[in-house]
Amino acid sequence: MGKNKKRKVPVDLDQELELSFTGFTNSGEGVGRVEGFAVFVPYTIPGDRGRVRIKEVKKNFARGELVDLLEEGPGRIEPVCPVYGYCGGCQLQHVDYKRQLELKTQLVKDAITRIGGFPADLVREIKGAAKIWNYRNRGQFPLAHNGSNQIGFFKAGSHQLVPIENCFLQHEKINQLLEVARSYLSRLKGNNLKHLVFKVSPETEKTMAVFVTQNENFPEGEEFALFLREQVPDLASIVQNINPKPYGPVLGRKSRVIWGEESLEDKMNDLEFSVSAESFTQVNPEQTKILYKEALEAAGLTGKETVIDAYCGIGTITLLLARQAKMVYGIEFIPEAIEDARENAEKNRIGNVDFVVGKVEEVLPRMAAKEIRTEVIVVDPPRKGCEPEVLQAMAEMGPERIVYVSCNPATLARDLKLLAGQGYEPKYVQPVDMFPQTHHVETVVLMSKIEKQA
Ligand SMILES: C[S@@+](CC[C@H](N)C(=O)[O-])C[C@H]1O[C@@H](n2cnc3c(N)ncnc32)[C@H](O)[C@@H]1O
Repeated sequence: MGKNKKRKVPVDLDQELELSFTGFTNSGEGVGRVEGFAVFVPYTIPGDRGRVRIKEVKKNFARGELVDLLEEGPGRIEPVCPVYGYCGGCQLQHVDYKRQLELKTQLVKDAITRIGGFPADLVREIKGAAKIWNYRNRGQFPLAHNGSNQIGFFKAGSHQLVPIENCFLQHEKINQLLEVARSYLSRLKGNNLKHLVFKVSPETEKTMAVFVTQNENFPEGEEFALFLREQVPDLASIVQNINPKPYGPVLGRKSRVIWGEESLEDKMNDLEFSVSAESFTQVNPEQTKILYKEALEAAGLTGKETVIDAYCGIGTITLLLARQAKMVYGIEFIPEAIEDARENAEKNRIGNVDFVVGKVEEVLPRMAAKEIRTEVIVVDPPRKGCEPEVLQAMAEMGPERIVYVSCNPATLARDLKLLAGQGYEPKYVQPVDMFPQTHHVETVVLMSKIEKQA
C-alpha cells in the first residue's frame, strides 16, 4: 500500500458481525480481525467465536462488545461473582486458572518479542499462585451518595458505581470490614466520604480502615470509627485521609489518626514492617514472597555490593537486599513511605541502608553525576515504567546487573529495548502471577552488562 493511501476502516459503529478471536491484549481483551483490522472485545479469549457489536471505531482498531457467544475457546468456565462483567475489577473469571496462566505468559512473550525485539525463549514458565481467591490484602471501595449511600467498585473505565456486598478477591477480613461498614452507611450524612480503604496483614491478623474524605470536615468519622471498633475486634487503626482531587490516586497526602495505631504492623518472612495509610505495598502477600525471592536471586549478591533499590515503597525489597549486600540505597517519592522504610530498617536492626525521598528521575541522575558506583540496580516502577532519564542514568552508572520488576509487560519491554541499546542484555524474563482472575501480570527481568571486547 502506498504511503499516503489511507486504509479503509472495514467496520462501522453499531455494526454487528461474527468474529473469531485469535489474540489477547495487555488490557485483557480478546482480539478478532476483520480483513486484518483489529477489533478488541472485553471478556473474550483466543478460541472464542462470537457475535459482536462495534462500540468504538478508531483509525487503527475498533472496540466491540460481545452480544452472543457462538463457540467457546479452551478454558472457558462460569464466573463465580454476580457482578463480574459490571465491576471493573476482574477480567478473567470466565477462564480456568491453567488457561489464565497460559494467557499471561503469552502476554509477556508478545511484549518481549514484538515491543522489545527479544527472543520468546527468554521467558520462563510463569510462577502461578496457590491461592487464587481471597488473596488481596488491600481493598479500595468508592462510595456514591445518590439519595442513599452506596459502596462498591467503579465500572471499568468509568466513575459509575457498581454496588457490591463482598469481593471474591479480597481477604476475608476485608470482606468482614466491608459488610460492617455497609451496615452503617445509611447513618452517614453529606457526601464528604469518597472512599473506604481497608488493609489487612494476614501474618499479624491486624486490620486498618482509612476514611478518604474530600475535605477535613468529617465530624461523623468519630462515631463511624467507634461503630467499626465495636464490630471488628482486630481493627488496629482508623485513619482519615484527605484527598480534595476528584480524579487520580485514591489517597491524598494528608492523614490523621482517628483511633489506634498510626501504621499497620505486617510481617514478611522474618522481617517486620510498618505500613502507613498512604504507603504502597504489594497486594498479594503469598505471591510477593515469590516475587521478592526472584528479585533477590536475580540481584546475585555476595555481600560486597552497593545496590540501589529505585521505587522502593516502604523498603521491603531494600531490606531483603541489604542482608546480602554491603550497602543499599532506597529511592521513593512518597515521604510517608520513606518514613516507614526508615522505621522498618530500625525495627529489623538493618543499618546498611539509606533512604532518599524524591523522584527517581531526579535522584538517579544526581547520583550518576556524582559518579556513585553501584554493582546492582533494582527498579520496580509503576505501570507507566521508567522515565527516559532513569534509564539514561542507569546506563551512565553502569552496574553489572539491572533487575527490573514490572507490573506492565508493555512498558517493561519498551524500557528493556532502550537498555539493550545502552549496553545491557536480558538474561531471562520471569513472570509471576500476583493477580489471579485479572489480566495483570508481574515480571522480574535480569539485565546484564555486555562485556566490551578488548
Ligand atoms: C510498584 S510500587 C513498588 C514498591 C516496592 N518496591 C514494593 O515492592 O512494595 C512503585 C513505588 O514507586 C513509587 N513511585 C512512583 N513513581 C515514582 C517516582 N517517579 N519516583 C519515585 N517513586 C515513585 C510509588 O509510590 C510506589 O511506592
